Amino acid sequence: MSGISQLFDPESFRAEGHKMVDALADWLKVTLNPDAETKVIDWAEPDAEYQDWSTFHSKDTEAIFSKILNRSIRIHHPQYMGHQVCAPAPLAALAAFEGALLNNGGAVFEMGQASCTLEKYLIDRFKSWFGYDDKGDGFFTSGGTIANITALLCAKSVMAEEDVWEKGTGRQYAVMVSEEAHYCVDRAVRIMGWGREGIILIPVDEQYKMRTDLLENNFNKAKEEGKQIIAVVGSAPSTATGIYDNLLEIGAFCRSKNLWFHIDAAHGGPSVFSEKYKFLMEGCGLADSITVDAHKMMMVPGLTTMLLFRDYRHSYQTFAQKAHYLWGNDEPEWYNLGKRTMECTKLMMSIRVYVILQTYGIHIFGEFVEYCYDLAGLFYNLILQQPRLEAPVAPESNIVCFRYYRDDCADLNEINQKIRRRILEEGKFYIVQTRLKDKVFLRTTLISPATGAKHIELLIREVVSIGDSIFENKENEII
Ligand SMILES: Cc1ncc(COP(=O)(O)O)c(C=O)c1O
Repeated sequence: MSGISQLFDPESFRAEGHKMVDALADWLKVTLNPDAETKVIDWAEPDAEYQDWSTFHSKDTEAIFSKILNRSIRIHHPQYMGHQVCAPAPLAALAAFEGALLNNGGAVFEMGQASCTLEKYLIDRFKSWFGYDDKGDGFFTSGGTIANITALLCAKSVMAEEDVWEKGTGRQYAVMVSEEAHYCVDRAVRIMGWGREGIILIPVDEQYKMRTDLLENNFNKAKEEGKQIIAVVGSAPSTATGIYDNLLEIGAFCRSKNLWFHIDAAHGGPSVFSEKYKFLMEGCGLADSITVDAHKMMMVPGLTTMLLFRDYRHSYQTFAQKAHYLWGNDEPEWYNLGKRTMECTKLMMSIRVYVILQTYGIHIFGEFVEYCYDLAGLFYNLILQQPRLEAPVAPESNIVCFRYYRDDCADLNEINQKIRRRILEEGKFYIVQTRLKDKVFLRTTLISPATGAKHIELLIREVVSIGDSIFENKENEII
Protein backbone atom coordinates (compact mmCIF):
# COMPACT_ATOMS: atom_id res chain seq x y z
CA MET A 1 0.00 0.00 0.00
CA SER A 2 1.34 3.46 -0.86
CA GLY A 3 1.83 6.03 1.89
CA ILE A 4 -1.35 7.92 1.09
CA SER A 5 -3.65 4.90 0.81
CA GLN A 6 -2.12 3.50 4.00
CA LEU A 7 -2.94 6.76 5.75
CA PHE A 8 -6.61 6.32 4.82
CA ASP A 9 -6.86 2.55 5.36
CA PRO A 10 -10.13 1.79 7.24
CA GLU A 11 -8.75 -1.31 8.95
CA SER A 12 -5.70 0.50 10.33
CA PHE A 13 -8.07 3.21 11.54
CA ARG A 14 -10.24 0.63 13.28
CA ALA A 15 -7.23 -0.94 15.00
CA GLU A 16 -5.65 2.41 15.97
CA GLY A 17 -9.01 3.76 17.09
CA HIS A 18 -9.71 0.83 19.42
CA LYS A 19 -6.27 1.15 20.94
CA MET A 20 -6.71 4.86 21.41
CA VAL A 21 -10.13 4.58 23.06
CA ASP A 22 -8.74 1.89 25.39
CA ALA A 23 -5.81 4.13 26.30
CA LEU A 24 -8.10 7.13 26.87
CA ALA A 25 -10.51 5.10 29.02
CA ASP A 26 -7.60 3.89 31.18
CA TRP A 27 -6.30 7.45 31.40
CA LEU A 28 -9.77 8.71 32.38
CA LYS A 29 -10.16 6.09 35.10
CA VAL A 30 -6.88 7.08 36.73
CA THR A 31 -7.42 10.80 36.18
CA LEU A 32 -10.88 10.90 37.77
CA ASN A 33 -9.75 8.78 40.68
CA PRO A 34 -6.03 9.43 40.92
CA ASP A 35 -3.45 7.80 43.14
CA ALA A 36 -0.79 9.90 44.87
CA GLU A 37 1.50 9.59 41.85
CA THR A 38 -0.95 11.00 39.33
CA LYS A 39 -0.26 14.69 39.06
CA VAL A 40 -2.58 17.23 37.47
CA ILE A 41 0.35 18.64 35.56
CA ASP A 42 3.87 17.38 35.13
CA TRP A 43 5.38 20.83 34.89
CA ALA A 44 8.32 21.61 32.65
CA GLU A 45 9.67 24.99 31.60
CA PRO A 46 8.66 25.81 28.00
CA ASP A 47 12.19 25.47 26.59
CA ALA A 48 12.68 22.10 28.30
CA GLU A 49 9.35 20.89 26.92
CA TYR A 50 10.42 22.03 23.44
CA GLN A 51 13.71 20.23 23.79
CA ASP A 52 11.89 17.06 24.85
CA TRP A 53 9.62 17.12 21.80
CA SER A 54 12.32 18.01 19.36
CA THR A 55 14.35 14.97 20.38
CA PHE A 56 11.39 12.58 20.23
CA HIS A 57 11.59 10.57 17.02
CA SER A 58 9.26 7.59 17.43
CA LYS A 59 7.00 6.61 14.53
CA ASP A 60 4.95 4.33 16.74
CA THR A 61 1.47 5.86 16.97
CA GLU A 62 0.81 4.33 20.38
CA ALA A 63 3.98 5.95 21.70
CA ILE A 64 3.06 9.27 20.07
CA PHE A 65 -0.46 9.35 21.50
CA SER A 66 0.76 8.16 24.87
CA LYS A 67 3.40 10.90 25.02
CA ILE A 68 0.74 13.51 24.22
CA LEU A 69 -1.36 12.14 27.10
CA ASN A 70 1.52 12.22 29.52
CA ARG A 71 2.65 15.71 28.58
CA SER A 72 -0.81 17.30 28.82
CA ILE A 73 -2.56 18.84 31.80
CA ARG A 74 -5.30 16.58 33.20
CA ILE A 75 -8.41 18.73 33.24
CA HIS A 76 -10.59 15.87 34.57
CA HIS A 77 -8.36 15.49 37.64
CA PRO A 78 -10.24 16.39 40.87
CA GLN A 79 -7.41 18.73 41.78
CA TYR A 80 -7.60 20.62 38.50
CA MET A 81 -9.09 23.92 39.64
CA GLY A 82 -7.56 26.33 37.14
CA HIS A 83 -8.91 28.16 34.11
CA GLN A 84 -12.51 27.83 32.97
CA VAL A 85 -12.02 25.01 30.51
CA CYS A 86 -14.30 22.11 31.29
CA ALA A 87 -13.55 18.42 31.55
CA PRO A 88 -15.47 17.23 28.50
CA ALA A 89 -17.91 14.37 28.97
CA PRO A 90 -16.44 11.41 27.05
CA LEU A 91 -19.64 11.17 25.03
CA ALA A 92 -19.19 14.75 23.81
CA ALA A 93 -15.55 13.98 23.03
CA LEU A 94 -16.73 11.07 20.87
CA ALA A 95 -19.02 13.43 18.98
CA ALA A 96 -16.06 15.75 18.44
CA PHE A 97 -14.06 12.78 17.19
CA GLU A 98 -16.83 11.89 14.75
CA GLY A 99 -16.97 15.52 13.64
CA ALA A 100 -13.21 15.60 13.13
CA LEU A 101 -13.30 12.71 10.70
CA LEU A 102 -16.43 13.88 8.86
CA ASN A 103 -15.02 17.41 8.69
CA ASN A 104 -18.23 18.96 7.35
CA GLY A 105 -17.65 22.68 6.91
CA GLY A 106 -20.86 24.39 7.95
CA ALA A 107 -20.64 27.66 6.00
CA VAL A 108 -23.19 26.26 3.57
CA PHE A 109 -25.96 23.83 4.38
CA GLU A 110 -24.83 21.32 1.76
CA MET A 111 -21.46 21.06 3.51
CA GLY A 112 -22.97 20.21 6.88
CA GLN A 113 -26.61 19.20 6.78
CA ALA A 114 -26.60 17.55 10.20
CA SER A 115 -24.47 20.09 12.04
CA CYS A 116 -26.14 23.19 10.48
CA THR A 117 -29.61 21.88 11.26
CA LEU A 118 -28.61 20.94 14.80
CA GLU A 119 -27.29 24.45 15.41
CA LYS A 120 -30.78 25.79 14.74
CA TYR A 121 -32.46 22.97 16.62
CA LEU A 122 -30.33 23.57 19.74
CA ILE A 123 -30.74 27.34 19.69
CA ASP A 124 -34.51 26.82 19.30
CA ARG A 125 -34.48 24.42 22.28
CA PHE A 126 -32.44 26.75 24.46
CA LYS A 127 -33.66 30.24 23.57
CA SER A 128 -36.70 30.35 25.84
CA TRP A 129 -34.40 29.48 28.81
CA PHE A 130 -32.63 32.76 28.05
CA GLY A 131 -35.93 34.65 27.99
CA TYR A 132 -36.26 34.85 24.20
CA ASP A 133 -39.46 34.23 22.27
CA ASP A 134 -40.03 32.84 18.77
CA LYS A 135 -38.13 35.72 17.20
CA GLY A 136 -34.94 34.57 18.95
CA ASP A 137 -32.27 32.85 16.92
CA GLY A 138 -28.53 32.27 16.79
CA PHE A 139 -25.73 29.96 15.76
CA PHE A 140 -22.54 28.34 16.97
CA THR A 141 -19.12 29.89 16.59
CA SER A 142 -15.49 29.28 17.52
CA GLY A 143 -15.19 30.56 21.07
CA GLY A 144 -16.41 33.34 23.32
CA THR A 145 -13.88 35.78 21.87
CA ILE A 146 -15.26 35.37 18.35
CA ALA A 147 -18.85 35.39 19.60
CA ASN A 148 -18.32 38.67 21.46
CA ILE A 149 -16.75 40.46 18.50
CA THR A 150 -19.46 39.09 16.19
CA ALA A 151 -22.13 40.45 18.56
CA LEU A 152 -20.44 43.86 18.74
CA LEU A 153 -20.04 44.01 14.95
CA CYS A 154 -23.74 43.27 14.71
CA ALA A 155 -24.48 45.97 17.28
CA LYS A 156 -22.47 48.44 15.19
CA SER A 157 -24.32 47.52 12.00
CA VAL A 158 -27.71 47.86 13.66
CA MET A 159 -27.09 50.91 15.87
CA ALA A 160 -24.58 53.13 14.02
CA GLU A 161 -26.05 56.25 12.51
CA GLU A 162 -24.30 55.62 9.17
CA ASP A 163 -23.61 52.65 6.93
CA VAL A 164 -20.24 51.68 8.35
CA TRP A 165 -20.14 48.36 6.53
CA GLU A 166 -20.29 50.04 3.11
CA LYS A 167 -18.67 53.40 3.69
CA GLY A 168 -16.39 53.02 6.72
CA THR A 169 -16.43 55.80 9.26
CA GLY A 170 -14.41 58.53 10.90
CA ARG A 171 -16.90 58.70 13.78
CA GLN A 172 -15.91 57.68 17.31
CA TYR A 173 -18.06 54.81 18.52
CA ALA A 174 -17.83 53.32 21.98
CA VAL A 175 -18.97 50.48 24.23
CA MET A 176 -19.50 50.61 28.00
CA VAL A 177 -18.35 47.59 29.97
CA SER A 178 -17.30 46.73 33.51
CA GLU A 179 -13.62 47.19 34.35
CA GLU A 180 -13.67 43.48 35.29
CA ALA A 181 -14.87 42.26 31.85
CA HIS A 182 -12.86 39.70 29.91
CA TYR A 183 -10.06 41.28 27.87
CA CYS A 184 -11.60 40.07 24.61
CA VAL A 185 -14.22 42.85 24.78
CA ASP A 186 -11.45 45.46 24.81
CA ARG A 187 -9.72 43.58 22.01
CA ALA A 188 -12.93 43.46 19.94
CA VAL A 189 -13.35 47.23 20.25
CA ARG A 190 -9.79 47.84 19.13
CA ILE A 191 -10.10 45.37 16.24
CA MET A 192 -13.15 47.35 15.11
CA GLY A 193 -10.89 50.41 14.94
CA TRP A 194 -12.44 52.39 17.78
CA GLY A 195 -9.17 52.56 19.73
CA ARG A 196 -8.77 53.18 23.44
CA GLU A 197 -11.47 55.85 23.32
CA GLY A 198 -13.90 53.20 22.16
CA ILE A 199 -13.95 51.32 25.45
CA ILE A 200 -15.46 53.01 28.47
CA LEU A 201 -14.66 51.04 31.59
CA ILE A 202 -17.30 51.29 34.28
CA PRO A 203 -15.92 50.75 37.80
CA VAL A 204 -17.20 47.89 39.93
CA ASP A 205 -18.67 48.10 43.44
CA GLU A 206 -17.32 46.25 46.48
CA GLN A 207 -19.09 43.10 45.23
CA TYR A 208 -17.20 43.41 41.90
CA LYS A 209 -20.43 44.13 40.00
CA MET A 210 -20.59 46.87 37.38
CA ARG A 211 -21.73 50.13 39.03
CA THR A 212 -24.89 50.68 37.03
CA ASP A 213 -25.44 53.98 38.85
CA LEU A 214 -22.47 55.34 36.84
CA LEU A 215 -23.87 54.42 33.41
CA GLU A 216 -25.91 57.59 32.97
CA ASN A 217 -22.99 59.95 33.72
CA ASN A 218 -20.62 58.04 31.48
CA PHE A 219 -23.20 58.02 28.71
CA ASN A 220 -23.73 61.79 28.93
CA LYS A 221 -20.01 62.51 29.10
CA ALA A 222 -19.35 60.38 26.01
CA LYS A 223 -22.11 62.19 24.16
CA GLU A 224 -20.66 65.58 25.06
CA GLU A 225 -17.32 64.36 23.69
CA GLY A 226 -19.00 63.53 20.38
CA LYS A 227 -18.94 59.75 20.77
CA GLN A 228 -21.86 57.51 19.86
CA ILE A 229 -22.28 54.76 22.42
CA ILE A 230 -23.36 51.64 20.59
CA ALA A 231 -23.68 49.06 23.34
CA VAL A 232 -23.32 48.10 26.97
CA VAL A 233 -21.78 44.70 27.69
CA GLY A 234 -22.75 42.87 30.87
CA SER A 235 -20.57 40.08 32.26
CA ALA A 236 -22.28 36.91 33.45
CA PRO A 237 -20.03 36.43 35.25
CA SER A 238 -16.76 38.34 34.88
CA THR A 239 -13.73 36.12 34.47
CA ALA A 240 -11.48 37.04 37.36
CA THR A 241 -14.07 37.03 40.16
CA GLY A 242 -16.96 34.93 38.81
CA ILE A 243 -19.41 37.67 39.85
CA TYR A 244 -22.45 38.40 37.69
CA ASP A 245 -23.32 41.98 36.72
CA ASN A 246 -26.86 43.15 37.44
CA LEU A 247 -28.33 42.30 34.04
CA LEU A 248 -31.79 43.61 34.83
CA GLU A 249 -30.45 47.10 35.58
CA ILE A 250 -28.13 47.16 32.57
CA GLY A 251 -30.99 45.95 30.36
CA ALA A 252 -33.32 48.67 31.65
CA PHE A 253 -30.66 51.32 31.03
CA CYS A 254 -30.07 50.08 27.47
CA ARG A 255 -33.81 50.13 26.78
CA SER A 256 -34.11 53.69 28.09
CA LYS A 257 -31.25 54.93 25.85
CA ASN A 258 -31.88 52.71 22.84
CA LEU A 259 -28.51 50.97 23.16
CA TRP A 260 -27.57 47.43 22.18
CA PHE A 261 -27.31 45.18 25.23
CA HIS A 262 -24.87 42.32 24.89
CA ILE A 263 -24.26 39.77 27.64
CA ASP A 264 -20.96 37.98 27.78
CA ALA A 265 -22.29 34.85 29.49
CA ALA A 266 -19.42 32.77 28.12
CA HIS A 267 -18.90 31.19 31.51
CA GLY A 268 -22.17 31.43 33.42
CA GLY A 269 -24.92 31.40 30.80
CA PRO A 270 -25.84 27.77 31.54
CA SER A 271 -27.00 28.80 35.03
CA VAL A 272 -30.36 29.42 33.30
CA PHE A 273 -30.77 25.63 33.31
CA SER A 274 -30.60 25.48 37.10
CA GLU A 275 -33.70 26.21 39.16
CA LYS A 276 -31.43 27.24 42.03
CA TYR A 277 -29.08 29.58 40.16
CA LYS A 278 -31.11 30.92 37.26
CA PHE A 279 -31.77 34.11 39.26
CA LEU A 280 -28.18 35.13 38.42
CA MET A 281 -29.21 35.56 34.78
CA GLU A 282 -32.36 37.52 35.62
CA GLY A 283 -32.90 40.13 32.93
CA CYS A 284 -31.05 38.21 30.23
CA GLY A 285 -34.16 38.26 28.06
CA LEU A 286 -33.62 42.03 27.68
CA ALA A 287 -30.32 41.43 25.92
CA ASP A 288 -30.03 41.83 22.17
CA SER A 289 -27.33 39.18 22.07
CA ILE A 290 -25.84 36.61 24.46
CA THR A 291 -22.57 34.66 24.25
CA VAL A 292 -22.53 31.22 25.90
CA ASP A 293 -19.47 28.95 25.80
CA ALA A 294 -20.59 25.34 25.93
CA HIS A 295 -16.93 24.37 26.44
CA LYS A 296 -16.92 26.08 29.82
CA MET A 297 -20.00 24.92 31.76
CA MET A 298 -21.75 22.44 29.44
CA MET A 299 -19.22 19.62 29.53
CA VAL A 300 -18.28 19.65 25.85
CA PRO A 301 -14.85 20.10 24.28
CA GLY A 302 -13.80 23.43 22.81
CA LEU A 303 -14.36 25.35 20.91
CA THR A 304 -18.16 25.24 21.12
CA THR A 305 -19.89 28.58 21.59
CA MET A 306 -23.47 29.72 21.08
CA LEU A 307 -24.32 33.27 20.09
CA LEU A 308 -28.01 34.00 20.61
CA PHE A 309 -29.94 36.99 19.25
CA ARG A 310 -33.25 38.31 20.58
CA ASP A 311 -34.32 39.21 17.05
CA TYR A 312 -33.20 36.85 14.29
CA ARG A 313 -33.23 39.71 11.75
CA HIS A 314 -30.34 41.43 13.49
CA SER A 315 -28.08 38.44 13.11
CA TYR A 316 -28.24 38.87 9.32
CA GLN A 317 -27.11 42.49 9.52
CA THR A 318 -23.61 41.78 10.86
CA PHE A 319 -22.02 40.93 7.54
CA ALA A 320 -23.51 41.83 4.21
CA GLN A 321 -20.99 40.23 1.96
CA LYS A 322 -21.74 38.78 -1.39
CA ALA A 323 -20.22 35.35 -1.94
CA HIS A 324 -22.15 34.01 -4.85
CA TYR A 325 -19.93 30.97 -5.23
CA LEU A 326 -21.18 29.90 -1.79
CA TRP A 327 -24.76 31.12 -1.46
CA GLY A 328 -25.97 32.41 -4.82
CA ASN A 329 -28.12 35.14 -3.19
CA ASP A 330 -28.15 37.70 -0.37
CA GLU A 331 -31.35 36.56 1.32
CA PRO A 332 -31.59 35.54 5.01
CA GLU A 333 -31.35 31.75 5.16
CA TRP A 334 -31.01 30.09 8.56
CA TYR A 335 -29.28 27.07 7.06
CA ASN A 336 -26.41 28.80 5.24
CA LEU A 337 -24.62 29.71 8.44
CA GLY A 338 -21.57 31.37 6.89
CA LYS A 339 -23.75 34.38 6.09
CA ARG A 340 -23.81 35.20 9.78
CA THR A 341 -20.58 33.81 11.21
CA MET A 342 -17.04 35.10 11.26
CA GLU A 343 -15.82 31.68 10.11
CA CYS A 344 -16.16 30.18 6.69
CA THR A 345 -15.10 26.58 7.44
CA LYS A 346 -16.31 25.72 10.94
CA LEU A 347 -16.09 22.72 13.27
CA MET A 348 -19.14 20.48 13.71
CA MET A 349 -19.73 21.89 17.18
CA SER A 350 -23.45 21.42 17.56
CA ILE A 351 -23.24 17.63 17.52
CA ARG A 352 -21.24 17.66 20.77
CA VAL A 353 -24.01 19.45 22.66
CA TYR A 354 -26.77 17.55 20.87
CA VAL A 355 -25.50 14.11 21.89
CA ILE A 356 -25.60 15.10 25.57
CA LEU A 357 -28.99 16.81 25.31
CA GLN A 358 -30.50 13.91 23.42
CA THR A 359 -29.26 11.18 25.75
CA TYR A 360 -29.36 12.89 29.18
CA GLY A 361 -31.95 15.68 28.75
CA ILE A 362 -31.68 19.41 29.28
CA HIS A 363 -31.58 19.19 33.09
CA ILE A 364 -28.14 17.60 33.06
CA PHE A 365 -26.72 21.06 32.27
CA GLY A 366 -28.45 22.58 35.30
CA GLU A 367 -27.26 19.69 37.49
CA PHE A 368 -23.67 20.35 36.50
CA VAL A 369 -23.98 24.07 37.26
CA GLU A 370 -25.52 23.31 40.66
CA TYR A 371 -22.84 20.81 41.56
CA CYS A 372 -20.01 23.22 40.75
CA TYR A 373 -21.64 26.38 42.18
CA ASP A 374 -22.61 24.59 45.43
CA LEU A 375 -19.05 23.38 45.84
CA ALA A 376 -17.81 26.95 45.53
CA GLY A 377 -20.13 27.97 48.40
CA LEU A 378 -18.63 25.22 50.53
CA PHE A 379 -15.11 26.32 49.58
CA TYR A 380 -15.89 29.90 50.63
CA ASN A 381 -17.15 28.75 54.04
CA LEU A 382 -13.94 26.80 54.58
CA ILE A 383 -11.88 29.87 53.64
CA LEU A 384 -13.78 31.94 56.21
CA GLN A 385 -12.93 29.38 58.89
CA GLN A 386 -9.19 29.41 58.13
CA PRO A 387 -7.44 32.41 59.76
CA ARG A 388 -4.51 32.26 57.30
CA LEU A 389 -6.83 32.80 54.30
CA GLU A 390 -9.02 35.62 53.07
CA ALA A 391 -11.39 36.03 50.12
CA PRO A 392 -12.16 39.27 48.29
CA VAL A 393 -15.84 38.46 47.82
CA ALA A 394 -18.33 35.63 48.37
CA PRO A 395 -18.53 33.59 45.15
CA GLU A 396 -21.64 33.63 42.98
CA SER A 397 -20.44 30.95 40.58
CA ASN A 398 -17.81 28.20 40.64
CA ILE A 399 -14.94 30.72 40.47
CA VAL A 400 -13.40 31.29 43.90
CA CYS A 401 -10.60 33.76 44.64
CA PHE A 402 -8.70 33.76 47.91
CA ARG A 403 -5.23 34.42 49.25
CA TYR A 404 -2.84 33.45 51.97
CA TYR A 405 -2.99 36.17 54.58
CA ARG A 406 -1.26 37.19 57.76
CA ASP A 407 -1.07 40.64 59.24
CA ASP A 408 2.64 40.31 60.07
CA CYS A 409 3.59 39.80 56.41
CA ALA A 410 4.85 42.88 54.53
CA ASP A 411 4.41 41.54 51.00
CA LEU A 412 1.32 39.42 50.58
CA ASN A 413 1.43 39.77 46.80
CA GLU A 414 4.88 38.26 46.61
CA ILE A 415 4.07 35.40 48.95
CA ASN A 416 0.89 34.51 47.03
CA GLN A 417 2.74 34.58 43.70
CA LYS A 418 5.30 32.22 45.20
CA ILE A 419 2.59 29.91 46.51
CA ARG A 420 0.97 29.69 43.10
CA ARG A 421 4.36 29.02 41.46
CA ARG A 422 5.23 26.29 43.98
CA ILE A 423 1.85 24.65 43.39
CA LEU A 424 2.39 24.71 39.62
CA GLU A 425 5.84 23.17 39.93
CA GLU A 426 4.69 20.46 42.34
CA GLY A 427 1.76 19.57 40.05
CA LYS A 428 -0.53 18.06 42.71
CA PHE A 429 -3.06 20.86 42.08
CA TYR A 430 -3.58 23.31 39.28
CA ILE A 431 -4.77 26.77 40.26
CA VAL A 432 -4.14 30.19 38.72
CA GLN A 433 -3.78 33.72 40.00
CA THR A 434 -5.34 37.11 39.37
CA ARG A 435 -4.99 40.68 40.54
CA LEU A 436 -7.96 42.47 42.10
CA LYS A 437 -7.59 46.09 43.18
CA ASP A 438 -3.81 45.60 43.10
CA LYS A 439 -3.87 42.56 45.35
CA VAL A 440 -2.71 39.20 44.05
CA PHE A 441 -5.24 36.43 44.68
CA LEU A 442 -5.14 32.72 44.02
CA ARG A 443 -7.95 31.92 41.63
CA THR A 444 -9.76 28.63 41.26
CA THR A 445 -12.53 27.33 39.04
CA LEU A 446 -14.23 24.19 40.33
CA ILE A 447 -15.09 22.57 37.04
CA SER A 448 -14.11 18.88 37.19
CA PRO A 449 -17.03 16.60 38.08
CA ALA A 450 -14.56 14.62 40.22
CA THR A 451 -13.73 17.54 42.53
CA GLY A 452 -15.29 17.20 45.98
CA ALA A 453 -15.04 18.68 49.47
CA LYS A 454 -12.00 16.59 50.38
CA HIS A 455 -9.98 18.01 47.46
CA ILE A 456 -10.82 21.53 48.53
CA GLU A 457 -9.76 20.77 52.10
CA LEU A 458 -6.47 19.40 50.74
CA LEU A 459 -5.91 22.53 48.68
CA ILE A 460 -6.50 24.76 51.68
CA ARG A 461 -4.03 22.75 53.73
CA GLU A 462 -1.50 22.89 50.90
CA VAL A 463 -1.78 26.67 50.42
CA VAL A 464 -1.47 27.38 54.14
CA SER A 465 1.45 25.01 54.55
CA ILE A 466 3.36 26.43 51.54
CA GLY A 467 2.55 29.98 52.65
CA ASP A 468 3.79 29.32 56.20
CA SER A 469 6.97 27.71 54.98
CA ILE A 470 7.76 30.55 52.53
CA PHE A 471 7.04 33.09 55.27
CA GLU A 472 9.17 31.30 57.87
CA ASN A 473 12.09 30.89 55.49
CA LYS A 474 11.94 34.58 54.69
CA GLU A 475 11.90 35.44 58.39
CA ASN A 476 15.00 33.30 58.89
CA GLU A 477 16.72 35.01 55.95
CA ILE A 478 16.16 38.40 57.58
CA ILE A 479 17.51 37.17 60.90
C1 LIG B 1 -16.36 36.07 30.43
C2 LIG B 1 -15.52 35.50 29.33
N1 LIG B 1 -15.70 35.92 28.07
C3 LIG B 1 -14.98 35.44 27.04
C4 LIG B 1 -14.00 34.51 27.24
C5 LIG B 1 -13.21 34.01 26.08
O1 LIG B 1 -13.76 32.82 25.65
P1 LIG B 1 -12.99 31.82 24.66
O2 LIG B 1 -11.81 31.34 25.39
O3 LIG B 1 -14.01 30.78 24.38
O4 LIG B 1 -12.63 32.62 23.43
C6 LIG B 1 -13.77 34.03 28.53
C7 LIG B 1 -12.71 33.02 28.78
O5 LIG B 1 -12.35 32.71 29.87
C8 LIG B 1 -14.55 34.54 29.59
O6 LIG B 1 -14.36 34.12 30.86
